[in-house]
Amino acid sequence: MMSDLQRGLAPDGATMRTVMGHFGTGVTVVTAMVDGEPIGMACNSFTSLSLEPALVLFCAAKSSSTWPKIQVAKHYCVNILAESGEELCRTFAMKSAAERYDGVGYAPAITGAPVLNDALAYIDCEIESEYDGGDHVIVVGRVVELGYRDGAPLMYFRGGYGRYSV
Ligand SMILES: Cc1cc2nc3c(=O)[nH]c(=O)nc-3n(C[C@H](O)[C@H](O)[C@H](O)COP(=O)(O)O)c2cc1C
Repeated sequence: MMSDLQRGLAPDGATMRTVMGHFGTGVTVVTAMVDGEPIGMACNSFTSLSLEPALVLFCAAKSSSTWPKIQVAKHYCVNILAESGEELCRTFAMKSAAERYDGVGYAPAITGAPVLNDALAYIDCEIESEYDGGDHVIVVGRVVELGYRDGAPLMYFRGGYGRYSV
């Protein structure tokens, strides 16, 4: 039995966060390589955009300190996290940038961006275009290489982590 639908709420920041949190997503770590240094941040704003040409996007907060480095790199790799990736997600969301790769194995994709060893799938991109999106930037990537393995994804819903089930 579903509870009553709360309607007519005003779009203030807290309500936007609460209501948008009802859109269950996968979780990714968006990586890049800048001057030989691997960087990355947890992102759930990733989506597929176009098949021909092959385009994807994620949205970077203008407050992010990692985004300007990805912008300079002109490439990014989206690492889709497997269900075992909750710790990875927390690390790439909260730890200081210098510590995020401690104990994390990776190998470079064609652009040089890190493909995390434990990723469920990855999409390696050159930055195609950037669009203003309020307090975020919409970052469109042209896909140059991608890959995947069998396995289940990490899910994110209402601020918590979960598993996919059918
Ligand atoms: C599940 C989850 C999803 C996130 N999605 C995004 C996102 O789509 N875009 C974004 O800019 N930050 C997102 N963040 C926040 C960043 O991972 C990170 O906390 C923030 O960028 C601060 O680090 P930075 O200063 O190194 O960028 C997300 C965090 C979590 C835990």
